[in-house]
Amino acid sequence: MYEISDTKKGEKVEFSNPPKEFFEALGVEGMRRFMYDFYERISQSDIAHFFPQEEEEFEKVKQKNTDFFIQICGGPAVYDQDEDLNDYMVRFHEQFSIDERARIEWLGTMREALEELDIDEDLKRAFWEYVEAFSKLCVNC
Ligand code: HEM
Repeated sequence: MYEISDTKKGEKVEFSNPPKEFFEALGVEGMRRFMYDFYERISQSDIAHFFPQEEEEFEKVKQKNTDFFIQICGGPAVYDQDEDLNDYMVRFHEQFSIDERARIEWLGTMREALEELDIDEDLKRAFWEYVEAFSKLCVNC
């Protein structure tokens, strides 16, 4: 049901940020649990090696991700960044060599965490559409 379409080089990627209702349904604490669950799964995944192995550093990534997703869903501006968040995130990921396989593993992990959420299915689907499309812009090799 949460499908993954291929990244095609040079193709224009259209996406909308997830709806504010997604954030409102979960709240700050729910977003935090969602992202921490996602990263627990990441640490067991085939892309675990991309992420800091040191607990304290990994914790920072989890927290930053929580803040990013709160803000991108229209919640409070807690991610410390002035420029357009999506543009910034694409540039941020350029320091890592992310190929289509890594994207698919990332999305597969996100799908598992998303499936656990007990909120309206349409909201989950809208969130999925954002990550499925936006993640194409993180593929850089
Ligand atoms: C929808 C797609 C994605 C979004 C929205 C996203 C978002 C983020 C955010 C918010 C951070 C933390 C930034 C910070 O520290 O300020 C992050 C870090 C990271 N992301 Fe992504 N990401 C996406 C896809 C991917 C994919 C496909 C990979 C593939 C491996 C990936 C790998 C990483 C890595 C390695 C880090 C940082 C680890 C470190 O700080 O050492 N991301 N991402």
